[in-house]
Amino acid sequence: MDRLSGKVAVITGGGSGLGEAMSRRFADEGAVVILTDRNAAAGEAVAADIAATLAGSNSGSARFIEQDVRSAEDWARVMDDVVKQNGGVDILVNNAGVFGTGGSQNIEDMTLDEWRFVQEINLEGVFLGCQAAIKPMKVRGGGSIVNISSIAGLRGTKDLTAYGASKGGVRQLTKSVALHCGRSGYHIRCNSIHPGMVPTPLGNDVLVHGWGDLETGVANRTKAVPLGELGTPDDVAWAALFLASDESRHVTGSELVVDGGATA
Ligand SMILES: NC(=O)c1ccc[n+]([C@@H]2O[C@H](COP(=O)([O-])OP(=O)(O)OC[C@H]3O[C@@H](n4cnc5c(N)ncnc54)[C@H](O)[C@@H]3O)[C@@H](O)[C@H]2O)c1
Repeated sequence: MDRLSGKVAVITGGGSGLGEAMSRRFADEGAVVILTDRNAAAGEAVAADIAATLAGSNSGSARFIEQDVRSAEDWARVMDDVVKQNGGVDILVNNAGVFGTGGSQNIEDMTLDEWRFVQEINLEGVFLGCQAAIKPMKVRGGGSIVNISSIAGLRGTKDLTAYGASKGGVRQLTKSVALHCGRSGYHIRCNSIHPGMVPTPLGNDVLVHGWGDLETGVANRTKAVPLGELGTPDDVAWAALFLASDESRHVTGSELVVDGGATA
């Protein structure tokens, strides 16, 4: 229950799905969690619920800051707020993401607007996050950045071209950040996580996009998982916990696949 005791963690997209599960798990493990999201109502509700759950316990807390990860100004405001109010930043999870607007992501039909929408949130948002976190982490003497990619960043996706490219970019960006920070002696680690299909609002949109309806999508994707079931948000949260904590002190530039064996 204290694997992140004394750590300050910023988690983007904390209002839903994997980000919500990570916010709950990290706070439960003693972290001061600052969850951000562009959906203020959802983020506020998760933070309030975590605070209520932790009432009476001595460690772990959560609060919400509204943020659009596409905005450099928002990143500066968030980091400034966290340093002022919480004394520094130890952990950043770049989790916020979208699969697209629902338009075609077939390479022949996809619009440039669709492509840019996905890259701006999923890839540029992670770039801005890494850049914004390094400065306060350097002051702190180290830190851990966890970037949420996808198995779509490891292999091709015929009808999710923009999404897959953004997640492949996150995988590559992660390694460059890891090398730069490692070689610079910052004691800042950077790793990526590659979840398989997890039913969340985004995951369900992908299933419907691929198979037309949710039931068919779940059935077909489940068949592709050797462990015989789709993952849960908490499966990913446990993996993120390891990479965020000091238990992974010698792990950087790595890619942790959480997919029930789907890509094995
Ligand atoms: N669910 C899956 O099957 C799956 C699989 C692999 C990877 N992922 C990745 O995990 C991450 C979380 O996905 P999820 O399934 O929990 O989705 P979700 O839709 O449940 O949650 C995503 C959250 O990100 C927020 N968000 C979106 N755009 C934002 C922006 N511009 N600024 C700030 N917040 C923004 C949303 O408001 C939402 O709260 C994403 O990066 C996604 O690509 C998900």
